[in-house]
Amino acid sequence: MGVCGYLFLPWKCLVVVSLRLLFLVPTGVPVRSGDATFPKAMDNVTVRQGESATLRCTIDDRVTRVAWLNRSTILYAGNDKWSIDPRVIILVNTPTQYSIMIQNVDVYDEGPYTCSVQTDNHPKTSRVHLIVQVPPQIMNISSDITVNEGSSVTLLCLAIGRPEPTVTWRHLSVKEGQGFVSEDEYLEISDIKRDQSGEYECSALNDVAAPDVRKVKITVNYPPYISKAKNTGVSVGQKGILSCEASAVPMAEFQWFKEDTRLATGLDGVRIENKGRMSTLTFFNVSEKDYGNYTCVATNKLGNTNASITLYGFFSSPELTVEEEEEEEETVDGLRLRNEY
Ligand SMILES: *[C@@H]1O[C@H](CO)[C@@H](O)[C@H](O)[C@H]1NC(C)=O
Ligand SMILES: *[C@@H]1O[C@H](CO)[C@@H](O)[C@H](O)[C@H]1NC(C)=O
Ligand SMILES: *[C@@H]1O[C@H](CO)[C@@H](O)[C@H](O)[C@H]1NC(C)=O
Ligand SMILES: *[C@@H]1O[C@H](CO)[C@@H](O)[C@H](O)[C@H]1NC(C)=O
Ligand SMILES: *[C@@H]1O[C@H](CO)[C@@H](O)[C@H](O)[C@H]1NC(C)=O
Ligand SMILES: *[C@@H]1O[C@H](CO)[C@@H](O)[C@H](O)[C@H]1NC(C)=O
Repeated sequence: MGVCGYLFLPWKCLVVVSLRLLFLVPTGVPVRSGDATFPKAMDNVTVRQGESATLRCTIDDRVTRVAWLNRSTILYAGNDKWSIDPRVIILVNTPTQYSIMIQNVDVYDEGPYTCSVQTDNHPKTSRVHLIVQVPPQIMNISSDITVNEGSSVTLLCLAIGRPEPTVTWRHLSVKEGQGFVSEDEYLEISDIKRDQSGEYECSALNDVAAPDVRKVKITVNYPPYISKAKNTGVSVGQKGILSCEASAVPMAEFQWFKEDTRLATGLDGVRIENKGRMSTLTFFNVSEKDYGNYTCVATNKLGNTNASITLYGFFSSPELTVEEEEEEEETVDGLRLRNEY
């Protein structure tokens, strides 16, 4: 072993050994996997960011000097620590194994590490790649957005991770399997339609950990559309209700007219009630003069539409039998809707 001991290196020897090691490394030939000659390092080491990586080198008793290097920088030479990085520690230094550990591994630790040994004055090296994985994480995603129907929308979802995560967008409000709308960080929708409103989910996926998932809500404004307006037959002296239903975003406001007169709760024995998409006009005590055509007007900031609804008397048309009237009620349903924007 000469002047410089193998397990303990006096300061002067350290310099000599280190210089020799430094000199040897760049010319070192990596030992192929499965090569029987020493030293034998393990296959590539894959760890997640934040975990510890163990670098093992199998040696034998012919080995006189050992060192682990990060690229061309010595981390450990024998038991002596050269690295100033507190995360690097020695684990095993025996005649058969020489191992170090890197704690709290970060992405910049990724790269080639070399086990360098000296056997009977022959330098040998073995290289191992430290691969650092990072779970997918969405860093920047668009906020919830409200747009008018027909406009264009671009959503963005930026994710990090190693390996680079795959980013996909899915529309959650549609049936299973039909929801994939983009396999990209950007989701572009031009001429957006009302049925494209709802929640969109961005998913960032790599094979390191569960995908990172976040949601964005798109609200699509559109003008009112009257979906239900029903003619109603009521006898004099009874209670009568006309109803009108409109879909709209934002929600529609309703007005009722008879000819040019706007109706209001409390006037002429009527009450107007609005509940969500539905508006009702109630007559507490129907009289002959109440019969006729009423207009329901639904309005939001994008426009308005109206429908004409008839309140008719059961006995006002003598030629109609009760059965025919019932049929009439069915067929007249919704026939005179005027949905124009
Ligand atoms: C080790 O990693 C390096 C760099 O990523 C790669 O070129 C090499 O093929 C890997 N070797 C094995 C045995 O996986
Ligand atoms: C390895 O070398 C790289 C590049 O110089 C450096 O950023 C990293 O901190 C080193 N890691 C260790 C564990 O020495
Ligand atoms: C997110 O990305 C947008 C568009 O590239 C950019 O304007 C914004 O500053 C980013 N926000 C954050 C928090 O990175
Ligand atoms: C309904 O109106 C008629 C005529 O005005 C009246 O005679 C009758 O008492 C009213 N019925 C009710 C329940 O108010
Ligand atoms: C009501 O409307 C229908 C169809 O628009 C029309 O035929 C009928 O004459 C109207 N009735 C009255 C009383 O205005
Ligand atoms: C109902 O709609 C028609 C056609 O859009 C329009 O001409 C009419 O003025 C509207 N009536 C009311 C009361 O808003």
